[in-house]
Amino acid sequence: MKTLTITRPDDLHLHVRNGAVLKMVIPHTARQFARAIIMPNLKPPVTNVAQALAYRDEILQAVPDGLDFTPLMTLYLTGSTPVTEIKKAAESEHIHAIKLYPAGATTNSDSGVADIKAVYPLFEAMEKHDLPLLIHGEVTDEQCDIFDRERLFIDTHLTAIADNFPALRVVVEHVTTKEAVQFVQSTGANIAATITPQHLLFNRNALLAGGIRPHYYCLPILKREVHRLALVAAATGGSPKFFLGTDSAPHLTSLKENSCGCAGCYSAHAALPLYAEAFERAGALDKLEGFASFYGADFYRLPRNAGTVTLEKTEWLVPASYGEGELTITPLKANESLSWQIRQV
Ligand code: NCD
Ligand code: ZN
Repeated sequence: MKTLTITRPDDLHLHVRNGAVLKMVIPHTARQFARAIIMPNLKPPVTNVAQALAYRDEILQAVPDGLDFTPLMTLYLTGSTPVTEIKKAAESEHIHAIKLYPAGATTNSDSGVADIKAVYPLFEAMEKHDLPLLIHGEVTDEQCDIFDRERLFIDTHLTAIADNFPALRVVVEHVTTKEAVQFVQSTGANIAATITPQHLLFNRNALLAGGIRPHYYCLPILKREVHRLALVAAATGGSPKFFLGTDSAPHLTSLKENSCGCAGCYSAHAALPLYAEAFERAGALDKLEGFASFYGADFYRLPRNAGTVTLEKTEWLVPASYGEGELTITPLKANESLSWQIRQV
């Protein structure tokens, strides 16, 4: 049997929610990843250090016994975040970044930032305290076509942020376009990007051709094939500027299969197998370890993980759903087969 053993990886962009959903999803991530950067877009959002530490405790409690998993916390930036909170966050060993959601850009982003220039003093504090800024890079202008929102964000905001804060570490989260890839490649080592499995494996046909498939709807939305190819080249090219961030974003099946379905793909159940599939198709399985286990840790200035995880090339069928009753989540590739699986230990 073909196997692939890599250093234990990290998921540098993950939504685990709280309460019952957290308990359902966290074992999937903890089986594969040593650590994950936890997104703060709860309802209400995690905007200060005290809330982040309480959320961290809730996550740790939900990790099944015997699994060794460390949540890396982030704060949700708002127009009224005090500069002092940035310093406090930088001083906490458990807070690793600040997340910027443009107001209205995605799930639970109502409290996000409406005027990006107005929070420049907070970026200045992050630059000074060397705390990374994580950006959901899409404009929210209703006049802007949804497929152009990432590209326009680069021209309108990202270039200016990079110019004004040359030492600020920035992660352009879940890049989806060739323009975003080019932007990241053209900047210094302080600017990096995460790439999701769905944006490596699918283009927008998966969402819209032959029927509308809500489980492929996420933000930023899937793009044309030319963009997918640029993402595959970036992820498999061995550049330390691109690393693994699943953006696994669980929503109840009833809220996805809905006349106004929520944005977010659930991929934690099979994150590494999905990436392995994408890397294998590109003939670049040897590049998976850097992308999954080294570059993210290096960017966040964390030690690389000890231990390994082994993938086996054995076909398996992804379940139709996880959970039961009202509390049901439909995973990416539900009822379809995947060619790699995690070796159980
Ligand atoms: C995310 C979610 O559901 O929290 N949804 C998504 O489509 N990616 C939010 C986000 O990261 O945009
Ligand atoms: Zn996300």
